[in-house]
Order: sequence, then structure tokens, then C-alpha cells
Amino acid sequence: MKEIDQKINSLPLIKSHPKTLQSIFGQSNLLPMWVADMEFEVAKPIQEALINRISCSGFAYEYKPDSFYQAQKRWYKKQYAIDLVKEQTLYSPSITTTISLVLENFTKENNGIIIQPPVFMEFKDIIHKTKRRIVKNPLKLIGKHYQMDYEDLREKAKDKNNKILILCNPHNPVGRVWSKKELKQVVQICLDHDVLLISDEIHKDIILYDHQFCSILNFTDQFEQFVICNSEAKTFNLCGISDSLAIIPNDAIRKNILQSFNRYNLGRTNILTTVALEAAYNNGRDWLVDLIQIIENNIQIINEELKNNSSKIKLIPPEGTYQVWLDFRELFSDSKQMFESVTKNSQVALNAGHWFGREGALFMRMNIATSDKKVREAIQGVIESVK
Ligand SMILES: Cc1ncc(COP(=O)(O)O)c(C=O)c1O
Repeated sequence: MKEIDQKINSLPLIKSHPKTLQSIFGQSNLLPMWVADMEFEVAKPIQEALINRISCSGFAYEYKPDSFYQAQKRWYKKQYAIDLVKEQTLYSPSITTTISLVLENFTKENNGIIIQPPVFMEFKDIIHKTKRRIVKNPLKLIGKHYQMDYEDLREKAKDKNNKILILCNPHNPVGRVWSKKELKQVVQICLDHDVLLISDEIHKDIILYDHQFCSILNFTDQFEQFVICNSEAKTFNLCGISDSLAIIPNDAIRKNILQSFNRYNLGRTNILTTVALEAAYNNGRDWLVDLIQIIENNIQIINEELKNNSSKIKLIPPEGTYQVWLDFRELFSDSKQMFESVTKNSQVALNAGHWFGREGALFMRMNIATSDKKVREAIQGVIESVK
């Protein structure tokens, strides 16, 4: 698997845009290890399919061909043991679009939306933008292991004003891959208190070691009040051209969302994504296996460097995703000072933990979907910065 080359590096990447770096980090010349995209060339079969498609045709209005649905169905069956039902699957330009619409259609202004911080910051932004209220069910950190607080979740779910739970499954940024047992408890609470569950499963394919991803689709027998938000953008480094899926087995919920998709014509997704995904579903598996190997190797590098330097920075053991969550609590007591000091002294751009909610204060997230060389350089810089 090739690391990003000079050609790709010369593209206008958000993570290395000097103005963006300057405004967020106060410096423009940093090693960018923050935005969650990859520095690997996409899988050869995807490249070939795209090149072929671009070189031999125009871009008229198209429907998704049967071969796409078949490839997708096979992928979902093999990858997650899920029988994907075409009629239950809608297409949307992005996951965040779908979440916004679900909030607007199924809640009123000032209704509470439960999230589990520290968590993907856009959940909070969507809740603000749609004028709903953020209700926090913070994750608990026991030793180095994040867990859900079910007792607190039940209390929040009991409140009739709180209508929706947004679950991040697997969890960005703490890297937990929720087990079936854990998810069962979440489902039970939603069922008992009539809470609609949005399960954002975008990180479902980067599963490390012997962990196992469990989709909320596995609970369809007992529970249908959910919307799965999904895409293969993270999996195959397609963030820049990706669409997303909304999988909704319940007819009433699906019809409701479909009406909005139709009203705004959101279902007409990108042809190139369809081409790329069909190739990925058919022939992307080997690339993904290699990718996971590289991510695990990069985690080992981080562990080694932290250990060899007797660093007080701690790594929360990642179970999934290609970001790692670093704990600076032994080194700092103020998160702004941590962010400024680590950035200035390491010359590495990391996400500050408090961007994911104040529960993430004194942590930082590092994207490790890049070469071992760059990961070593970045972690060494970060370790030195706090010495
Ligand atoms: C949990 C999660 N959901 C959604 C997204 C973004 O998805 P989209 O670009 O389709 O809105 C990200 C991107 O980092 C993410 O981490």
C-alpha cells in the first residue's frame, strides 16, 4: 500500500491548508495528523474502475445498476453477516445530512438529543444548528477503558423531552468497538423509554485485533426504532467523493425520511462514488486487510516510543478506527495550555480532546492512517514536546 505521494500532497487538502492551520493552531507549518482522512492511495481496483469510467464515458443521469446492489449485498453479508435489504436502504450526500433530517423530522425545537461525549464534534454542531438541546450521557473512563454509563443513560432516556440518542458505533474518538452485550443494553433502554436511536456506523470497517463490530441491525428482531447512518468513506479513503447510506428497516421512519430526501432531491448521489464502491465491495478486501495491519503496526510504534521514553503520555488502547486517543492528564491541568504547548513544541497538528466535549479535556487525538515513518516522527515530536 503506497503512502500519499507528492502529487496527492499538492492537492488542496483541508488538513494542510495554511490558513486553516494558522487559524486553528496558530501556526501554518505543522505536520498534519488531525483531520480523519488517510494518506494512502486508494485500492488499485478502485483506481482502475474510476479511471476506466472517467476515460470512456460522459456523466449523464444514471441509476445504480443491479451489479452495484449485488456487490453491496455480498459485501454486507461477508463483512458483517448482515442481509442488507435494498428497499430499506436510502442514499444521502452525507451522514451529517441524514442526522440533521432525522432530528428535524422526529423532534421539535428544544427537545433533548442524547450524545455520549467525548464524541465526534459534529453531533453537537447539528444539535445546535437544528435548535435542539444537547443532553450528555458522558462515557466513563475506568483505568484505560471507556464504558457507557447505562444508569445515567436510563435516567436521560426516561425524560420525555429527550427523544433521540446518537450512538457512535464504533466510537470516534475513544476507539471503542462496542460489543453486542453493550449494545443490547443500549437497545433495551431505547426500547423501554421510546427513544429513537441513530447509530453512526461509519467506522465499522477499521476493527483492530480480535474485536468484532456489531451493527444495530443485529437487533432488528426486537427493535426497529433506529436509523443506521453509514458509509464506506473512512474504510476506503473516499471522504472527498463519498455519499452515505441510511438503513431504516421500519417503514414509517423510512417513509418519513424518504419524503424529505425527495423534497430536497438528496437521493441523487455521485456516480463516481457508485463506481468506486462497486469496485471496493468486489475487490477491496485485500487492501483493507493490509490497511488494518498497517494501523496495528503504527499503534505498536506509538506504544514502543511511549515506553522507550518512559513518557507520561498514556495511550488508550484502541479497538477500532484509525485515530488514537492520547491521555495527557499526568502532564497538564489546563487543556488550552496543553493544546498550545504540545502544538508549539512538537510542530504536529493534533485534535485537542476538548473539541469532542469537555469530557475530552487533557486528551488529544492523533490520526495514524499514514506511513510508519510519519507516525514515529509525530509521536517522537509529541513526546519531546512535554519533556
Ligand atoms: C463518527 C463520524 N460520523 C460522520 C463523519 C462524517 O461523515 P459525513 O462526511 O458523511 O458527514 C465522521 C467523520 O469524521 C465521523 O467520524
